[in-house]
Amino acid sequence: MTDAPISRLTIRRPDDWHLHLRDAEMLKGVLPHTAAHFGRAIIMPNLVPPVVTATQASYYRDRIMAALPDGMSFTPLMTLYLTEETDPADVERAHADGIATAVKLYPAGATTNSNSGVRDFDRVRPVLDKMAEIGMPLCVHGEVTDPAVDIFDREAVFIDKVLKPIRKKNPDLRVVMEHVTTQDAVDYVRDHRKNLGATITTHHLIINRNNILAGGIRPHYYCLPVAKREQHRVALVQAAVSGDPRFFLGTDSAPHTDPNKLQACGCAGVFSSINTMSCLAEVFDVAGKLKNLEQFASLSGPKFYNLPPNEDTITLVRGDVVTYPDTIQTGEGPVTVFDPGFPLHWHVED
Ligand code: DOR
Ligand code: ZN
Repeated sequence: MTDAPISRLTIRRPDDWHLHLRDAEMLKGVLPHTAAHFGRAIIMPNLVPPVVTATQASYYRDRIMAALPDGMSFTPLMTLYLTEETDPADVERAHADGIATAVKLYPAGATTNSNSGVRDFDRVRPVLDKMAEIGMPLCVHGEVTDPAVDIFDREAVFIDKVLKPIRKKNPDLRVVMEHVTTQDAVDYVRDHRKNLGATITTHHLIINRNNILAGGIRPHYYCLPVAKREQHRVALVQAAVSGDPRFFLGTDSAPHTDPNKLQACGCAGVFSSINTMSCLAEVFDVAGKLKNLEQFASLSGPKFYNLPPNEDTITLVRGDVVTYPDTIQTGEGPVTVFDPGFPLHWHVED
């Protein structure tokens, strides 16, 4: 006898451990979609100009809270954008005062607004030492930027050339490998238990590189790190549904307006906060692992960040096919919603 299929699932309220909220009109347009389902999110600092100092992070947090609609609750967990000029004392203050939860490392030139990022990793060593001392995590965009390295290999090369040396010199530093996209990264995280976690996005669990390039170019699936071969997507799904607490949800929902996506040199980013929980429930359901969705979306992230899970819950319900708008309207223009390419049956109950 097989168990009856699950059609309702109540889990602790999830958090998003990697999110781009932008600023001003875009912030106002996208924040309600995250706050509708998520309790907290790690907020990426790659604004223009970037959020580098404790003071800047504090003002950005104020702007986020001011953009939150009345009656909604949401806690932004701020990050500082690491530059070669970052002052360890400022990082220490941001941590001690509860202004910033983590520091974000972008290799210079790796992605959107990363030009102020790090070129010479030795120059940020004093900051990393301080972070290890105070137990503040480093969120890492793990791709090398060397033009000689193929874009599909940049994550795997980063692990060998940058991440391993950083962790060797600083084994006490707590590191989150963000938005992992390869079997190589999954294996590395699985084999190196100490002080290491990884976020996985919704879209990387669903698309591979064929979805971007086969049968016409699909700019709305273009993001960084770029989606890889099918075997890598399968490795990510296995890691996500496994219940292994080192892998947790970071949507990397990264809104860009359609005109900025649909041009000769389009921006990288997938906007998924609105339908992420539906997509994840479908992925976990198909894998026969719905029982591990709470671990991935609601428990493992807080555990890594030494925070309690959210007290309240959400309920996911399986029923008729649910639809989401193709685009949401923001004060900056339309933003296309991630299309998983298959019907969604799960929705978050109001
Ligand atoms: O696809 C991406 N978009 N990857 C990133 O790392 C940055 C993000 C953005 O800010 O648009
Ligand atoms: Zn991101």
